[in-house]
Amino acid sequence: MSSHLRWRMRSCFPTSSLFSEVHEFEKPNDKKALELMNECAKAVLEQFPDVIFSYGYSDECSFIFRKETKFYQRRGSKILSLIVSFFTSTYVTKWRSLIPQKDLKYAPSFRARVICCASMEVLQAYLLWRQYECHINNQYDTCLWQLINSGKTREEAEATLKGSLKQDKNELLYQCFNINYKKDIPEMFRQGTCTLKTEVEDIVKYKDDGCPVKRRRRKVITVHSENIASKRFWNEKLCLLKELGQFTEDLNKTRPEYIKSFQYESRLMLSTWIVVRVDGCHFHRFSDVHEFEKPNDAQALDLMNACAIAVLEEFRDVVFAYGVSDEYSFVLKKDSQLYQRCASEIVSAIVSFFSSTYTMRWNEFFPQKEMKYLPYFDGRAVCYPSCEIIKDYLAWRQVDCHINNQYNTCFWLLVKSGKSKSDAQSYLKGTQTQEKNELLDQLSGIINYYNTLPPMFRLGSSVYWDKETKMVDDKEGAAGKSRRIVVVRHCNIIETGFWEAHPHILDDNRFKAVQRATV
Ligand code: GTP
Ligand code: MG
Repeated sequence: MSSHLRWRMRSCFPTSSLFSEVHEFEKPNDKKALELMNECAKAVLEQFPDVIFSYGYSDECSFIFRKETKFYQRRGSKILSLIVSFFTSTYVTKWRSLIPQKDLKYAPSFRARVICCASMEVLQAYLLWRQYECHINNQYDTCLWQLINSGKTREEAEATLKGSLKQDKNELLYQCFNINYKKDIPEMFRQGTCTLKTEVEDIVKYKDDGCPVKRRRRKVITVHSENIASKRFWNEKLCLLKELGQFTEDLNKTRPEYIKSFQYESRLMLSTWIVVRVDGCHFHRFSDVHEFEKPNDAQALDLMNACAIAVLEEFRDVVFAYGVSDEYSFVLKKDSQLYQRCASEIVSAIVSFFSSTYTMRWNEFFPQKEMKYLPYFDGRAVCYPSCEIIKDYLAWRQVDCHINNQYNTCFWLLVKSGKSKSDAQSYLKGTQTQEKNELLDQLSGIINYYNTLPPMFRLGSSVYWDKETKMVDDKEGAAGKSRRIVVVRHCNIIETGFWEAHPHILDDNRFKAVQRATV
């Protein structure tokens, strides 16, 4: 049976109410903030052809994929991470144009999950449920904030609304505040927003005889509707009919429990180390377009490292991170209970936060370079059952860093020396480490050239909490005081020496002690 990948995201961390408070969003609805969410939804539909429809309200948005989608071969983790990452990068970028009077104070993050709808009926029931939630929440919040604005405390307002029915709330709004809910409250607040694709005809030019030459093109539009799960709304939209299917009956009753039975939450095995690996999507092209230095661009790597530091500071269960090229692995402590170890929540929140930080801080690292298009990342989570295996995993990534870096350094030196890219490639085919080192010395004219390269290029970047001892002058003279900070080091993590020198990283009790240490 065909299935609809319904992809839903919600803002998460820091919690949405905190985010909206810090940025002083209007209550209960901030028009600009909602428009920003809608713009991001539009951008997702434009970027990913397989996303056919979206429905959003408040801080959440659901994206519906084409039934037959082969998007990343339907791997859930890829789907949710790529979409959430692109959405978040868009959110950060469009913030500046849509809410120019307010600074974005910190990197936003969204959580996502994939739900497969086994039939059109499930999809329809799902949409009905989400729009019902939109309606119920909005009606309640509209009343609540009217009461608060009229002088009641939050507790008093909540007490007034307790147990009230839909009709009672409409009455209250009308009697006390002269508000006709349906007429006076904008559609976008009451009904949420749909995004879909339509075909439009553009006039591309005029022929000599004055006749227009037209071309059909897909355009993403937003629409509002009282009942998005109705046959009337759905079946008259050609693209929805064609790509998703039709609704055969109208639905009257929401059945959240029925929908929830389709939500399969995969939880990561208890007492295992969780690694979330984030990897730049199509960074081959991204680094070309942005003219990153080859084979290593120190600024690009510094930006990746800054994002990793931000992740460790924000997600306190991350005990270690290792990064190379366009990827970063984040190790979560063994007993982490982050999002009850729900894989999609953990992956999406980290990827989303990483992406928004990357986009927000681009200018700091590339003041001279305009970001030409949005970067986005994919993510996955894997569990490792022991300390030894987690070290093996990290060693594997560092070996990979070394092999790639040595190869790329040779490759670009050969190209610099006048060889074509394909000649350089054939020249290096089958060469061993020793031969590459000799080649490097020969091409550069420097003995032991490889070891003169910056450690960040050769060894990648390790990020972790460490104690920093500072000499502080106080009345009793200079004294050493320590505080916890996140550090970036470029060291050998394959050999045991590093782990012996930093036992707190993989030992939970010692880790807590380091985190507790403050100035
Ligand atoms: P997917 O991850 O499958 O979407 O493909 P990708 O294009 O991102 O390739 P992959 O992740 O396998 O490899 C990362 C690519 O990013 C490298 O092949 C480089 O082309 C590019 N890249 C990463 N870091 C740098 C850098 O410092 N300088 C330059 N010039 N390119 C880099
Ligand atoms: Mg990549």
